[in-house]
Amino acid sequence: MTLLAIDGATKKFDGLTAVNEVSFGLEAGEIVGLLGPNGSGKTTLINLVSGELAVTAGSISLNGQRLTGRRRDQIARAGIARTFQLVRILPSLTLIENVTIPAVFGPGRRTVAEAQEVALEALKQVGLSEMATASAADLTYIDQKRLELARALASEPKVLLLDEWLAGLNPTELAEGIALIRSLKESGITILMVEHIMEAVRALCPRVVVMNSGRLIADEATETALRDPHVIAAYLGEGADA
Ligand SMILES: Nc1ncnc2c1ncn2[C@@H]1O[C@H](COP(=O)(O)OP(=O)(O)O)[C@@H](O)[C@H]1O
Ligand SMILES: [Mg+2]
Repeated sequence: MTLLAIDGATKKFDGLTAVNEVSFGLEAGEIVGLLGPNGSGKTTLINLVSGELAVTAGSISLNGQRLTGRRRDQIARAGIARTFQLVRILPSLTLIENVTIPAVFGPGRRTVAEAQEVALEALKQVGLSEMATASAADLTYIDQKRLELARALASEPKVLLLDEWLAGLNPTELAEGIALIRSLKESGITILMVEHIMEAVRALCPRVVVMNSGRLIADEATETALRDPHVIAAYLGEGADA
């Protein structure tokens, strides 16, 4: 069953079409890689799904319910959460405070106490529950990334959008990060992940969609895509390192 349906999604910025009639779906429980060279429109597409940006044309629906035209917070409540390419946390707050705020915006109406419980569970999922009362300002880079992920999980999303969440990690942290994403998938969440690290894509994503210059150029099994001449040419053409 298609959980997330992206249908002809288009985003124009003045003269530039950053996302050009992109269509694909995510089945419930699936984990799909979103690939493409720099500037191909991946982050813009994530912004369209999460509601940070409005589509110029096309539609996006979750479980048959149209998200297009709805506000960011309504889309979050409907079940879409995301992390940002550049980590966004609130450094002046503790970890639990950071995660309680988005927990309040989850499905249904929650009291602060209920939100705190959900937040603690999200911190547990990413391995940070022991540090719940520490200040977010004191976190290492990987722990900042874990915290941002916990903030996304705290809204109890059906679909999680990860924008290069594994970027910038050392090899040990990368292995931990891959294991963490795998554990989220096993909990039943559906994931669309922008990722340049092919080792991670191979390990986590049976299927990938590939963008180039705003258009979808492939939607196929990962092993097929990584041997697909169109995909290889797109990466080589932009001088990317994948
Ligand atoms: N807010 C914006 N205003 C104008 N142009 C933008 C904006 N956001 C992205 N772009 C342009 O859209 C294209 C796609 O960018 P982006 O989606 O960030 O690519 P990717 O994440 O694949 O590297 C780029 O040419 C970029 O400069
Ligand atoms: Mg990007």
